[in-house]
Amino acid sequence: MKDKLKSLKESALAQIHGAQHLEALNDVRVAFLGKKGELTSVLKSMKDVAPEDRPKIGQLVNEAREEIEKILEEKKVAFEKKLREEKMKLETIDVTLPAKKPMMGHRHPNTIALEEIQRIFIGMGYEVVEGPEVEYDYYNFEALNIPANHPAKDEQDTFYINKNIVLRTQTSSTQVHEMEKGKLPIRMIAPGRVYRSDEVDATHSPTFHQVEGLVIDKNVTFADLKGTLQQFAKEIFGEDTKVKFRPHHFPFTEPSAEMDVSCFKCGGKGCRFCKGEGWIEILGCGMVHPHVLEMSGIDPNEYVGFAFGVGLERIALLKYEIDDMRLLYENDVRFLKQF
Ligand code: DAH
Repeated sequence: MKDKLKSLKESALAQIHGAQHLEALNDVRVAFLGKKGELTSVLKSMKDVAPEDRPKIGQLVNEAREEIEKILEEKKVAFEKKLREEKMKLETIDVTLPAKKPMMGHRHPNTIALEEIQRIFIGMGYEVVEGPEVEYDYYNFEALNIPANHPAKDEQDTFYINKNIVLRTQTSSTQVHEMEKGKLPIRMIAPGRVYRSDEVDATHSPTFHQVEGLVIDKNVTFADLKGTLQQFAKEIFGEDTKVKFRPHHFPFTEPSAEMDVSCFKCGGKGCRFCKGEGWIEILGCGMVHPHVLEMSGIDPNEYVGFAFGVGLERIALLKYEIDDMRLLYENDVRFLKQF
């Protein structure tokens, strides 16, 4: 009996050592310690053992059982550790791999140009204000010296909401709102969207943006207007930019002018960009018409002012050399991310 137990134990230990994986280990457990296992059957055959030998044999069986269990457990722990290590190896992250880049949004060229314009004028002490896009005919036209039958009303094809209310055709309407507030002096720019019933093409859109400027104070002169806008042109298009003022007509300014900048592409020699002219028109401006001041409650004998209006898209197109305005409205990320 003793020898049988000894060989049983040795064979169990040998099989445990030979096991290659967890399942094989479990098979060994079942084969020796299971209900029908070999060690169990030794216990069952105790009835054949002489009663005086039973305690001794029982103790030996228990010892064998304990030893087999102990070795089984050690081997199991070793297997599990190995498995964990293999799994870790498989799941290792290579932190040096380049990450997938998420698609980023981009600032629109209009926004970049506007922020640049705002930076320039804020630097000169201007305030940035906003006015309504849905506007009374009065603010868009009448208070700007464009009465009912004035031809300028036809020039700016207007979207009418009803007889008295329009989608503003120009940010100049904001001038009137600011002057009506009665807080003088005024030094403001007013960026915003404007609407005209134009067909879409490379240079037109039914909705676009303007930046309006207005200065009202005592002793303001046309030289102030010129100096301000010259400084603006240099900052936005480069230090070498020259400006030229051509007489023009706007109903709400007198005198009025359009300002051209020297072509920053050819430096004024004439190229495809400036259509051979050497100059590019960028804004309208003038001294605020006394009648406009008067209508908004400002005494033209005490105060004078100048105003200007810039097309924002025009600045963005020129600055970034974009040749079709429609690109600005399609919002194709491949286009936008170039700026
Ligand atoms: N509102 C004019 C337009 O849309 C632009 C303009 C010209 C604005 C002269 C002004 C100005 O303030 O003084 O064509």
